[in-house]
Amino acid sequence: MRILIGFTLLVLVHCRVVDRSCDGIIVHNIKHEKEILKHDIDSAYQLAIDYDTNTLFFSFSTPHDSSDVFKSAYLNLKNNEYGIITGIPGGFANSVDNRKHKVYLGGNNGIYSFDFDTKRAFYISDSDKNIWQLFYKNKLYFTEYPNEKAYYYENGVSKKVPELEETRAMLLAVDNNENIFFSNSSGLYCYKSDKSKIISVGEYNVNGFTSDINGNLFFSTPEGLYSINGQEIKLLANIDNVYGLAIEGDNSIIYADMNSIVRLKPTKTVCYSEDKKTIVDQENQL
Ligand SMILES: *[C@@H]1O[C@H](CO)[C@@H](O)[C@H](O)[C@H]1NC(C)=O
Repeated sequence: MRILIGFTLLVLVHCRVVDRSCDGIIVHNIKHEKEILKHDIDSAYQLAIDYDTNTLFFSFSTPHDSSDVFKSAYLNLKNNEYGIITGIPGGFANSVDNRKHKVYLGGNNGIYSFDFDTKRAFYISDSDKNIWQLFYKNKLYFTEYPNEKAYYYENGVSKKVPELEETRAMLLAVDNNENIFFSNSSGLYCYKSDKSKIISVGEYNVNGFTSDINGNLFFSTPEGLYSINGQEIKLLANIDNVYGLAIEGDNSIIYADMNSIVRLKPTKTVCYSEDKKTIVDQENQL
């Protein structure tokens, strides 16, 4: 009798155990683990990878440093070598021309390039502009703060991006079909190159764009990571307090949260979740 009661209890207890193996971060139906690449880094922004040297560039806040509120830094993804980049006041924006293996940085007074030997930034252009963001795609795109205007820098001159001349743009990214995705305080928009029109994509609070080694676009919001596949926005993962993301050469996701830089590593656990997709509304044109 005692054995029977024991057995019944065991079954009951067993049935009440909730399966928690799929709690955590699920990307493409695979559970991922966090690998902290850098601790104690305050809200890292605008992550960009030089695929040639496997170096991550980013900016971070220095609230206790009176000289500079933002600084640019690098982190070698192979050996974890880390350093703050000197020679640029208020380093805030980072982007890489991976074909020419050239790293661009933006700060309080213009655009700089990074020198791998000295780990210093050297001034290039636009000293009259406070650079908010840089994005390299065939040429160097950048936005300016507080005007929220979009420019590009090519052959030594900077010009306004004609497609975005009439609009505010804080962050932008260009895809493989020359569509320009951009965000401002109203949400995420896309200038469609085939229709020569700006369409609304959604009320995403974008805080970072990135492209992978093949030019596919991704973005982050404070709530998660998303991919842009043509006209389809797909939620990759729900994560709190995200500040930016980058995609490594082997497609690993790197993101920044309030105080660290994290790599997502796939586990062997498969978890099926509903795909959350938003199809960009073709009719939703401004
Ligand atoms: C953001 O851009 C869209 C599309 O150009 C525009 O309609 C909207 O007014 C902009 N928001 C702000 C705050 O300027």
